[in-house]
Amino acid sequence: MDHFQYINGHLCAEDVRVDTVAKAVGTPFYLYSTATLERHFRVFSDAFKGSDALVCFAVKANSNQAVLATLAKLGAGADVVSQGELMRALKAGIPAHKIVFAGVGKTKSEIAAALKAGIKQFNIESEAELEAINAVALSLKVCAPVSVRVNPDVDAKTHAKISTGKAENKFGIPWSRVHSVYDRIKALKNVRAVGVDLHIGSQLTDLDPFKAAFAKVVALTKDLRTKGHAITHIDLGGGLGIPYSAEGAVPPTPGAYGTMIRDVLGDLNCSIILEPGRLIAGNAGILVTEMLYEKTSETRRFYILDAAMNDLLRPAMYEAHHEIIPVTEKTGEAVIADFVGPICESSDVFAVKRSTPPLKPGDLIAIKSAGAYGAVMSSTYNSRALLPEVMVSGDKFAVVRKRQSLEELISMDVLPDWLTD
Ligand code: LLP
Repeated sequence: MDHFQYINGHLCAEDVRVDTVAKAVGTPFYLYSTATLERHFRVFSDAFKGSDALVCFAVKANSNQAVLATLAKLGAGADVVSQGELMRALKAGIPAHKIVFAGVGKTKSEIAAALKAGIKQFNIESEAELEAINAVALSLKVCAPVSVRVNPDVDAKTHAKISTGKAENKFGIPWSRVHSVYDRIKALKNVRAVGVDLHIGSQLTDLDPFKAAFAKVVALTKDLRTKGHAITHIDLGGGLGIPYSAEGAVPPTPGAYGTMIRDVLGDLNCSIILEPGRLIAGNAGILVTEMLYEKTSETRRFYILDAAMNDLLRPAMYEAHHEIIPVTEKTGEAVIADFVGPICESSDVFAVKRSTPPLKPGDLIAIKSAGAYGAVMSSTYNSRALLPEVMVSGDKFAVVRKRQSLEELISMDVLPDWLTD
C-alpha cells in the first residue's frame, strides 16, 4: 500500500497535492512519501519480529540523504556497494555496526575506509578480494569481519538483467570453491569468517527460488560448522518483488517471506541480515512529468513527455512496466498511446500501446513505482540536468535534492591548456 491517492480528483502524496509541488519546483521531479517508506520498512521488519534480524536497506535502490535518514530513525541498517554509499549511509545516521559492504570489485581504498569506519561485515565476492581485504586489514592492524557471498546456482526466475544467483552470473563464490575459501579465511590472520551471504536476484515474485537457495545455504552452514567455522549469521540478501501494476504478478507478502525463512532456517540458531531495497522504496516514489506534445503517426499516437530515459532508465533497460496516471483525474473514453521521452534513442519509451485517459499538452503525469532504481540510475545523457527530488511528510514537502543547473552540469568539463591559449 502506498500514500499516493486521488483526493477530490487531485493526485496527492499524503496530504500534499502533486500539482502544488510541480508549481513550486517545475517538472520533471521525483516525489517521495515518508509515510510509505515508513510503512514498508515497518511491515518488512514486523515480518521478522521475534527473530534476531537486522534489516539493512539496499542503498543502491535510493541513496537520497532524506530517504536514508528516514529509515535510520526506524533503526535500519544499510547494505552498501561503494565508498560513496558508505559515506551516504554514515552521514544519514546509520551506525557503522549496522552496515554491510557488498559488491564484486571493492578497491583497496574502499576497503580501508570501511575498516576505519568499523562496519559490521564485508560480503566477499572473490578469492582475490579476500586476499586484498586481509592485506588492507593487516596494514591497519585490524581483523576484518567477512561473510562469503556464495553463488548457489539457483534460477531466480526474474528478468535476466537482474538475476544474480546462477553460476554464469559474475556474483559470489562458485559453490564448488566455498569450502576452500572458508579454509583460507581460517589460515589468514586479519580476516575472520562471521557468516554466509547470498543474493539471487531482484523483483522476485515467487518464493520457491528463495526457498531453494536458502535451503542450500542452511545445509552449507551446518557443514561449515562441523568443520570448525563459527558461522553466527546468514545474510539472505534482498530481492522480494513489489506490485508494479494491478495486472502484473502478485509478489508474496513480507509476512509470507518471513514465515518461509523461519521454516527453512529451523533450529539453525543464526542471526539474519536482510537487504531489501525495492520493497522499501519502490512504491514510495513517483516521477512527475509534463506532457509536452502529442504526435500521431500512421500507426501510433505518441504522448511526448519532458522526462526521459536518462531520468528513469528502468523501462528502457529492463522493459519494466510502470503505471502512468494523470495528476488531475480524467474522465473520457480511454485511448491507446505510447509515452515517450525527448531523447534521441528509440528506447526512450516509458510505455508502449498503453490504455490511458486522453491527455493534452500541459497535463501533468505521474509515473508510479519510481522510488527504487529511479533517481539513483539517472544520467545526464543528452546534456539533460539531474532532476530534483522532493519529499512529503503529512502536509509538508521539501526539496531533498535540488535540481542540477545546466551551468553546474557543464562546469564539470575542463578545457586543456592547448585549447585555452
Ligand atoms: N543485496 C544485494 C547484494 C543486491 O545486489 C541487491 C540489488 C539488493 C540487495 C537489493 O535488491 P532489491 O531488494 O532492491 O531487489 N536496477 C535494477 C535492480 C538491480 C538490483 C541490484 N541488486 C532494477 O531497476 O530493477
